[in-house]
Formats: sequence, C-alpha cells, structure tokens
Amino acid sequence: MTHIQTKSYTILAIESSCDDTSAAVYTAQQGLLSNEVYSQTLMHALYGGVVPELASRSHLEKITSVVEYALKKSGKTLADIDAFAVTSKPGLPGSLIIGLCFAKGLAWSMQKPIIAINHLEGHAYSACVENDVEFPALCLTVSGGHTALYRLQGYGDYQVLGNTLDDAAGEAFDKIARLMGFAYPGGPIIEKLAEQAGFQDFFMYPRGAVGGYDFSFSGLKTAVLYDLVKKGAYDMAQKKFLKSDDSLFISQVASSLLVCMKDIFIKKIEYALEHNSDIKSVCFVGGVACNKYLRAKLTQYCDKRGIKLFYPSPKLCTDNAGMIAFVGYYKAQQNRFDSYEVGIL
Ligand code: KG4
Ligand code: ZN
Repeated sequence: MTHIQTKSYTILAIESSCDDTSAAVYTAQQGLLSNEVYSQTLMHALYGGVVPELASRSHLEKITSVVEYALKKSGKTLADIDAFAVTSKPGLPGSLIIGLCFAKGLAWSMQKPIIAINHLEGHAYSACVENDVEFPALCLTVSGGHTALYRLQGYGDYQVLGNTLDDAAGEAFDKIARLMGFAYPGGPIIEKLAEQAGFQDFFMYPRGAVGGYDFSFSGLKTAVLYDLVKKGAYDMAQKKFLKSDDSLFISQVASSLLVCMKDIFIKKIEYALEHNSDIKSVCFVGGVACNKYLRAKLTQYCDKRGIKLFYPSPKLCTDNAGMIAFVGYYKAQQNRFDSYEVGIL
C-alpha cells in the first residue's frame, strides 16, 4: 500500500449497517490483514427482505465472534490496535447501534480513539484499498440500497454528483428477479441467466429519461413488469409469474435487463466525464460491481476513452468492514477522530 505514509496506524473496523456483521484489520504496510463477514442473507430470505428487528438481534449474537475471528486471522491482538473505526450512518438504526456500541466498548476499554465512518464513503473508496487510484476520480456506487455518482478529489475529499431519485439499481435486479420467482439477491441470478442468453438485448427496455447525474430505476422496473404482462408472462391479479418453465424466455428477460443497465451506467459515466474533464480514473463499486459483464463493458468503455477503470475484489464490493477500515486509516492519518459520545447519524 503506497498511498498514505505518515504515522502508521493499525485499524480494527466494524460494519453492521444492514444485514452483514463484519470486522476487518488494516495497516498501511500490510494492507487488509483480515476482512470477515457473517451474512444474514439466508435468514432474511425466508421473509423476502431484511427484517430490521431480526438483523439487530443477529448482529448482537455474532459480533463478538466475528471481531475475534478478524483479529485472529490478522495475527494481531487488541493491544496492537491503534484506533477503532465503525460505520455510524446510514443504515438500519438497530443494526448500526450494535456495531457502534461494540466499537465504543472496545475503544474505551483500550483507551484508544474511535472513528465514525459513513458507509457510503466506505463504498466510494473501496476500489482504493487494493489499487492506486489516481485522483480526481469518478466513482459509480451501485448496490441494493444505493446508486450514486461521486467525484473523489482525494482521500476524504469527495462530492456527490448524482443519486437515484427512487430505487437503487441492485434493487431493480432484486425486484425483477423476484417477479420471476427468484430469491434475494437477484443480481447474481440475473447475471447467470443473461450469460445463457449471450448478453443480447431482446426486449429493448427503456434506458431512463432522467438527465444529468441522477438515476431512476422505478420506471424500468414498471416497464419490465408491463412487458411481462403484455407477453402473457405475468398475472397482475394473482401476482404470479406464468412462464416459470420457459427458461429461454427467463434468460432473455435477464439478458435484456442487464444490457439495459450497462447502457444506463455508461451514459451516466459519459455525462460525468464530459462535465469533469480532469478525471483521471473511474471506480465501479458496491454489490452490483461484482457483475463480471458490467465490469468488462465498463472497462471496455473507459479503455476507449483512455481512462483506467478500477473495481474492488468481490469481498470489497458487498458490505464489508475492510472498506471501513481503509477509510478509518486515512481519517486517522488526518487526525479526524470522534468523541466516545458519537451516536448513529
Ligand atoms: O452492497 P450490497 O451487498 O448491499 C447493499 O448495500 O445493498 O449489494 C447487494 C446488491 C443486491 O441488490 C444484489 O442483487 C447485487 O448487489 N448484486 C449483483 C451481483 N451480485 C450482487 N448485481 C448484479 N450482478 C451481480 N453479480
Ligand atoms: Zn452497502
């Protein structure tokens, strides 16, 4: 890790903003020594979405062992930790409180500083954990909860350029997959099905009318639903998918959807590059950035423009404490610590 080199801090980070309990250890010299995640996905899948009350109870049960395991795997002990970083916003309040209380308890008992981190700043810099991203950079964050464009000026110095006005892109994948009877998360299933259909655009779904930096995906979701109805594939009254046995059709829907998303992302990157002519790199982050087709297509587009595209490894794409540890590290370098009285924001 070459990017930040003044005082060397060893950071232990905790992330519990939604349905993943995660802990990580980071040092500048050795990079990410551990990044452990306990996922609650299976538990929530039974209910068709994250149940906040169950999420916080599960964080409470698992957090000690996840932190212990992250420390053990890193080869460090609590005494080696110089500062504790923890996600304090945004997220489910009951989930955030568990991580924050645990981090506070550790920091206070070890008499070490605490650093409260914005989860979205964690995602925004997640491609920088393993890569030397050149600034100013453009960052496209796409997950199940967020879709946004950032301009990263330097570490901790960033500006939100645009946001989704309604659903997140990952949510659109999840909801459309669900319409066709697939469980959460829909994104990986859509990718697999789209591959079977050769990543072709069969149904030409609308690319979205929102101009500028912002995004909108609720119209796309509705357009796909109406198209399914029109094709006799969905019964609105019964809320039932009628072509479960037509694997060719299902893969064509998935493929058309993925190609449509690709076009929307490229259009937004293009717009942002036109209005930020000094951009040196582009980052593609968040759960949806696990998608290999989107990675390849965005890389192809950026290559053509002579700009390097960076994306994190899959574990740093979905919610994880590794990205929080990294932000904690540069904040510690910048002396941006918080009081033990910090709350969720
Ligand atoms: O970052 P993340 O784990 O959680 C949120 O903060 O939302 O992202 C989860 C989202 C889900 O919507 C999931 O469907 C999507 O990321 N996702 C994918 C892929 N893997 C996960 N979307 C498209 N292709 C994938 N391979
Ligand atoms: Zn996230």
